[in-house]
Amino acid sequence: MADQAEKLRELVSGRTGAGRGGEKKGSTRIIAVSSGKGGVGKTNISINLALAYAQLGRRVIVMDADLGLANVNVVLGVIPRYNLYHLIRKQKTLPEILVDTSYGIQIIAGASGFSKIANLTDQERGDFIAELAALSSADIIIIDCAAGVSSNVISFIAAADDALIVTTPEPTAITDAYGIIKIIATEVESLDIGLKLIVNRVHSVVEGRRVAERVINIAGQFLNLKVDYLGFVYEDPVVHTSVVRQKPFLVLEPRSRAAMCVRHLVGRLENMDYRDGRGIPEFLKKLFGGKG
Ligand SMILES: Nc1ncnc2c1ncn2[C@@H]1O[C@H](COP(=O)(O)OP(=O)(O)OP(=O)(O)O)[C@@H](O)[C@H]1O
Ligand SMILES: [Mg+2]
Repeated sequence: MADQAEKLRELVSGRTGAGRGGEKKGSTRIIAVSSGKGGVGKTNISINLALAYAQLGRRVIVMDADLGLANVNVVLGVIPRYNLYHLIRKQKTLPEILVDTSYGIQIIAGASGFSKIANLTDQERGDFIAELAALSSADIIIIDCAAGVSSNVISFIAAADDALIVTTPEPTAITDAYGIIKIIATEVESLDIGLKLIVNRVHSVVEGRRVAERVINIAGQFLNLKVDYLGFVYEDPVVHTSVVRQKPFLVLEPRSRAAMCVRHLVGRLENMDYRDGRGIPEFLKKLFGGKG
């Protein structure tokens, strides 16, 4: 652990940091997207959020951290040759595994090898961290996490600037959203991320608000945890169509209700308790440096 911390200090003091080198103002904002229940819309929301950010002129990378069922690339209709596994195994460098898309965003494909992140040797972990530091060139990194509460998911959430928890109005999804928030509250020692709720597949503004209030009130009451309501996405057939056509709905139907909702989410993210992201060095320190 000690030499790992040393490596991080080098990284922090050396290559990166807000405004350093004059190439980029502000540091990278890392947004983890997660949910308790599967299938609630994380991947679609992650990708379309990324696109909406890109349309604002930001440099965005989507990292597919869903290990078992990696599918960011499927929804975007791209076939990556390399993924995080090749990076960890040192067969490829970060620029080599970054996949350009025709939508102005880049993706990093997931890999089942990535689930062994906790088992990396110190050397492997150090090399991996050094590679990931190159992500600092992005303005926004959106991490599409797996559903549920595996330790990888929790570490990504704890290391991010914002954790977006996606639910739908279904009672099972709501219960599971509360479940993951509870795990985050209990497992993460010093929680200084913005926990934000997105209610997907709603039929009305009121429905979204009602669902959000339920989760937010319970989290406040029983966990003493502040969760913000980021907003909702309408139930919209364009989402299904876009998955089938492997084209994000923000591109397929920019005027659809779902697309307007996603742009609104980005607007809220930009305005709500806005602060600069902590940046990649801090993210990596939190991701690999244990709970402190
Ligand atoms: N707003 C919406 N309106 C209509 N259908 C939707 C909406 N959001 C998601 N869906 C449907 O739900 C499916 C699952 O979405 P998605 O793959 O984004 O979920 P996920 O949370 O990433 O799933 P997983 O947990 O398996 O990774 C979509 O293919 C689509 O058919
Ligand atoms: Mg998914």
